[in-house]
Amino acid sequence: MQALRAARGGAWDIRQAFADDAQRFARFSQQAPHVFADLSKNAWDAEVEQQLLALAQERELPAWRSALFRGDHVNSTEHRAAMHWLLRMPADGGALSTSLKGNAVLQQDLQQVHETLEAMLQLAQQIRADAQITDVVNIGIGGSHLGPEVAVHALEDWVTAGKRYHFVSNVDGHELGHVLAKVRAENTLFIIASKSFTTAETMLNAHSARQWFLDQQSGLSQEAQKQALGRHFVALTTNTQAATAFGIHTTLPFWDWVGGRYSLWSAIGLPVAIAVGPECFRQMLAGAHAMDAHFVQAPLERNLPVRLALLDVWYRNFLGYGSRCMAAYSHGLRRLPAYLQQLEMESNGKAVDREGQPVQVATSAVVWGEPGTNGQHAFFQMLHQGQDVVPVEFIALRDGGKYLGAHHRSLVVNAVAQAQALLVGRDDGSPAQYCPGNRPSTFLLLEQLDPASFGALIALYEHRVFCSGVIWGINSFDQWGVELGKLLARDLEQRISAKHWDGVDASTVALVSKLLLD
Ligand code: F6P
Repeated sequence: MQALRAARGGAWDIRQAFADDAQRFARFSQQAPHVFADLSKNAWDAEVEQQLLALAQERELPAWRSALFRGDHVNSTEHRAAMHWLLRMPADGGALSTSLKGNAVLQQDLQQVHETLEAMLQLAQQIRADAQITDVVNIGIGGSHLGPEVAVHALEDWVTAGKRYHFVSNVDGHELGHVLAKVRAENTLFIIASKSFTTAETMLNAHSARQWFLDQQSGLSQEAQKQALGRHFVALTTNTQAATAFGIHTTLPFWDWVGGRYSLWSAIGLPVAIAVGPECFRQMLAGAHAMDAHFVQAPLERNLPVRLALLDVWYRNFLGYGSRCMAAYSHGLRRLPAYLQQLEMESNGKAVDREGQPVQVATSAVVWGEPGTNGQHAFFQMLHQGQDVVPVEFIALRDGGKYLGAHHRSLVVNAVAQAQALLVGRDDGSPAQYCPGNRPSTFLLLEQLDPASFGALIALYEHRVFCSGVIWGINSFDQWGVELGKLLARDLEQRISAKHWDGVDASTVALVSKLLLD
């Protein structure tokens, strides 16, 4: 592959590749469930793709995919399966019913999944019907926040009017404070979303919300306060004991085999189910399941998550590109970059392989972006004329939904024109205006941003991350790096109380002193 890179990498000309191959668009575009992908404006050709497919085979991608869908412990450091796909499987297994055959454990897990799903949708329906509840406040962080938030924004055309949705994640009290200033206790439902029910930020926000709530009920007896708390607080967690100890009566459980950043499909999706209703939530699951079936069943060379992962590996390891820009031309998808940052960078930002040995190649790229057309008036200058090549991923919708057709046309025209500009560049003699062109982009197209398409899109990204992780030989389902910061924050809290600074670097001591002690 390195030889191929050396032969092609330096002087790669995507424009020439179009000129040489009349079939290029057909060869490098494909339909997957709910998502059409144009991969033809990327810096590769059939030979590169063949070699990348061979690399995927050599890294045993098909065997790892089977292990994932068998419920094997692919999350080896935490000794767990990663079965987010089971959360969107129909009760009879749907398009993947054969995966269930002879696997009693999976069958049992699927039954539990559906029992909890039905309980969650019933609760969602009850809250939807409760006109007294006008505000739903989700308190959670990371996977217990970003999935529901991106989904509620993406599906805003499907959100039933009458309730407002707030997402509180940051431990910065301004976030919770601003929300509490807008709501009334008797009209608010607090959802405490935390897989572990121990995450420091979420727990502090939850305790502050509870205190605020109780302060509003100060005229009531203790028993009446307790009951009110039970009515207005719901927990979504695998740690039901801790939720009960917090005083929450209504808890929707999920399981340790659901990774936080893969948990949108579980009880963590409750705010989405309340916002869009049970039927739309089921459609979101169905769209994701269709993508699961595509990932399991399509041959690797027509398998969209696989092909996108191959491009990621090609760019990261062979052409040396360090980041990917997400440019979703959709206001609904404005939080997608944040969601993908956790999904991709927490999953694949790793330096050791599954055996604990150093990985010899670069892993996750930096994923970043803003919705179009806003990004055009900010960082696109650098994408066109800067010295770093940054592959761009466009997302556009054919049907823009219910508002203002002329706006949608302009939005889509801009998306296509930007992809074209990155490809063709500009050279009319003026050095200042020179755009080298030949800059790679991928274009994903959804019919519309409906629940099924959204579900399929997110599942596409989940599987893509898994595929690149397999090729890099890493465990995409743990996140030990996050732990160090948590550990040191706890340590600093204790040191501040004890005024004990032995062994701490001078900069840290000085900063703590300036910020908290002086
Ligand atoms: O950021 C680390 C992390 O563990 C994420 O993986 C997870 O989504 C987030 O914290 C929140 O965790 P919890 O749902 O347990 O509160």
